[in-house]
Amino acid sequence: MQFDIFSLFPEIFEPYIKISILNRAIEKGLVQVALHNIRDWTTDKHHVTDDTPYGGGGGMVMKPEPIFAAVEDIMGKTSQYPIVLLTPQGRVFDQRIAQEFASYERIGLICGRYEGVDERVREHLVTDEISIGDYVLTGGELPTLIMMDAISRILPGVLGDPTGASDDSHASGLLEYPHYTRPAEFRDWGVPEVLISGNHAHINLWRRQQSLLRTSKKRPDLLESASLDKADLKFLAALEQEDSIPEQNHETDQ
Ligand code: ADE
Repeated sequence: MQFDIFSLFPEIFEPYIKISILNRAIEKGLVQVALHNIRDWTTDKHHVTDDTPYGGGGGMVMKPEPIFAAVEDIMGKTSQYPIVLLTPQGRVFDQRIAQEFASYERIGLICGRYEGVDERVREHLVTDEISIGDYVLTGGELPTLIMMDAISRILPGVLGDPTGASDDSHASGLLEYPHYTRPAEFRDWGVPEVLISGNHAHINLWRRQQSLLRTSKKRPDLLESASLDKADLKFLAALEQEDSIPEQNHETDQ
């Protein structure tokens, strides 16, 4: 998959890409990142990329011409790929959107700066607007890195583990179950018995129920859209009724 990034500060990306999972994905040939400096598409002597807003008011606005020129030059005038503008006004990024973008061969990401970008970029160039949350950053570069990271790690072969990202929090619409590693006893705190039982059916059931338990406690909103089977629903109903876990699954107590 290729990410084409359009930014006024492409150098921001290099250090992170070099040391992260993205670098491994690039080395394996699974991901390509092409950095494009929007300033390179200015045509005036001073390479101006912003200007004062029509109508007055504070701040500067990114000019449309270099953004259009850069994106059309690199992605083509009639791109069949998503051209995403990172902006606090976009739909809020989540795992489902990461999966949606992971199905494309290529994606263009435009990093806004200053007070914003000329509205004509939104209206006539981009296919999608994405926000990483309801807060305002100084630019779209960090949101772009976050999107690239989330998308890359779900591409087949990027993570070393063959189960990949399928168990992640949010991958199934639920939060992930708790993890433990050695030592079995740390400061008097043990590890749930079931995890050292060697019984994989019990372990899988415990993990599923822990996911449900955590999600219902920490993010009950996620349960509304998670895909739940009959056993899940029964477990959740029991949780709600008794505010405890059904008897046969006493291992879930910890
Ligand atoms: N640019 C500034 N703030 C942002 C946000 N929250 N998400 C995406 N892009 C942004």
